[in-house]
Amino acid sequence: MDHINNVYTLNDGNKIPYQGYGTYQVIGQDNVQIIKTAIQCGYRFFDTASLYETERALGQAIRESRIPRKDFIIETKLWIQERGYENTRRALYASLERLQMDYVDLYLIHWPRETGEPDENWKGINLDTWRAMEELLAEGKIKSIGCSNFLPHHLDSLLKNCRIKPVVNQLELHPGYSQEATVQYCLDHDIRPMAWSPLGRGKQMNDANRYILDTLAEKYGKSTAQISLRFLTQKGIIPIPKASSEIHMKSNMEIFDFSLSKEELSMISCMPQTTWLGEHPDFHIPTKKMNPDQ
Ligand SMILES: NC(=O)c1ccc[n+]([C@@H]2O[C@H](COP(=O)([O-])OP(=O)(O)OC[C@H]3O[C@@H](n4cnc5c(N)ncnc54)[C@H](OP(=O)(O)O)[C@@H]3O)[C@@H](O)[C@H]2O)c1
Repeated sequence: MDHINNVYTLNDGNKIPYQGYGTYQVIGQDNVQIIKTAIQCGYRFFDTASLYETERALGQAIRESRIPRKDFIIETKLWIQERGYENTRRALYASLERLQMDYVDLYLIHWPRETGEPDENWKGINLDTWRAMEELLAEGKIKSIGCSNFLPHHLDSLLKNCRIKPVVNQLELHPGYSQEATVQYCLDHDIRPMAWSPLGRGKQMNDANRYILDTLAEKYGKSTAQISLRFLTQKGIIPIPKASSEIHMKSNMEIFDFSLSKEELSMISCMPQTTWLGEHPDFHIPTKKMNPDQ
């Protein structure tokens, strides 16, 4: 068992590996080489976004790997200000140009709402965005469409009015922030949950939570990062850890030779929710604006 050969079938019939590789903050002179190393380690599913400024590097790394494009799953996202019918079409073509690809496997709405956006506005603009994505899907520019940071009320509004439902919803998920209600909503609607910051971005946990993960790590002879990734995988969630060191890249894949018990999964799910990175989907103050010249 490994993370490439283990695949979920999404609600539109397309397949996706159990684990991906996140490219946020894979920046700097070495970014093409870092992604090439991830490819050599075996990663085939890559997450990027128009916001991250890593689409060019990802496209270059894939071309230079000489592995056929069809063997990769490439996911990118349009940013808050790129929502809307015309904007979405423009944003997708700009991403394709940066990636130097003629299609993406997954295209997501990155964030459901700008801070202060009234209910009527975000509902309407998300539906216009979705209509453009459904059309781009029919035109073969996208293989699957999905959401990111959508809570149940954002999904409700979309599901009531869409023709094609989202295949995935990418959320902040890790021990200490398990968003059980939204994950359950996704599973109930056959929308595969995906975990961003599955390692909590390496932020320090409180002592009690750290003790639980350390104890399990010792029991299974694994690292706390591996316990976190295994926990998510057993909950049916796709983690997309970012790692720049080869040691981390490899160890993050070595999570298929042990299983956490039902009781241990419950213990982690019920840990105090203390490690939230602080970005609520309805009140997100963007820390970074898109670079129009990227
Ligand atoms: N949809 C959204 O709104 C959203 C938001 C944030 C992120 N994302 C996506 O999710 C991806 C992952 O999230 P993230 O980058 O924020 O955080 P993360 O994957 O939780 O954490 C990354 C940090 O963990 C370290 N790390 C990786 N493997 C490790 C291991 N085995 N042991 C110890 N430390 C390890 C990395 O260090 P090294 O780099 O030194 O190896 C890096 O500092 C992003 O890259 C992006 O693609 C999406």
